Amino acid sequence: MMHKVRKAVFPVAGLGTRLLPATKAIPKELLTVVDRPLIQYAVDEAREAGIEQMIFVTGRGKSALVDYFDVAFELETTIREKGKSLEPLDSSRAGFGELVSVRQQQPLGLGHAVWCAREIVGDEPFAVLLPDDLMAGRPGALRQMVDAWESVGGNMLCTEEVPHEKTASYGVITPGRQEGDLTEVLGLVEKPAPEVAPSNLGVIGRYILQPEVMRVLDAGETGAGGEIQLTDAMARLIGTQPFHALKVDAVRHDCGDKAGYVIANLALALERDDVGPRIREYLSRS
Ligand code: G1P
Repeated sequence: MMHKVRKAVFPVAGLGTRLLPATKAIPKELLTVVDRPLIQYAVDEAREAGIEQMIFVTGRGKSALVDYFDVAFELETTIREKGKSLEPLDSSRAGFGELVSVRQQQPLGLGHAVWCAREIVGDEPFAVLLPDDLMAGRPGALRQMVDAWESVGGNMLCTEEVPHEKTASYGVITPGRQEGDLTEVLGLVEKPAPEVAPSNLGVIGRYILQPEVMRVLDAGETGAGGEIQLTDAMARLIGTQPFHALKVDAVRHDCGDKAGYVIANLALALERDDVGPRIREYLSRS
């Protein structure tokens, strides 16, 4: 069994309807939090966790996401000629082979999006990052997961307690034995109503999965909302491979939601030395 996670899948084909009209012509993953697009935070988090290859599962109208990580030759030449610094562009350039993309041709669900990357993932463990979930933490959330995963192997997802009345917005776990921040996963259900939710431990958009999940997804079975759900496919691996949930030391901002997106901007801006003081002053006056 391989003990390094080298590849990460970023499902970025979604239409971002919860953020309309902003997302009518701009992919939601390119909306900025302070001064960088959401996708940049997820890619930086993956890099910090040792990921060598980013696999974007894109769709129609989302090519700008791949362009963003390209070398902007004209822009860089102009900046250089003016004697200005290229430093702001540093993390937005993907190295050779660092970024590949595949298309999800129909919006059939998160499980289907991940399955679209199966040929590139191949036969090794891989991470999945949902960029909507901006995880603010040091070290980053995926780094914390990889560190924990290196001792238990198998499959791992990120979890946090969610309000009981909100379980229908999340995958929810049936917890087993707990050891520190690590909980054994005995069951998984996608978006259960509060009355039937097995716990209030919600699934957050960070996963480390074994390639066998692709074989489950091959069947294309649909679940909640008539979609091919990653949660359902993961549930089928429980009992056949180790499966853990990790509570990470990070703050999650749900940027797929308007209020969550604005809060993320505020929270991250307040932490910054360059813009934080002015914003703090503005808030204290308001
Ligand atoms: C997806 C997953 C869900 C998870 C959530 C985390 O749902 O299907 O299990 O809890 O991401 O953000 P979505 O928010 O795409 O509906």
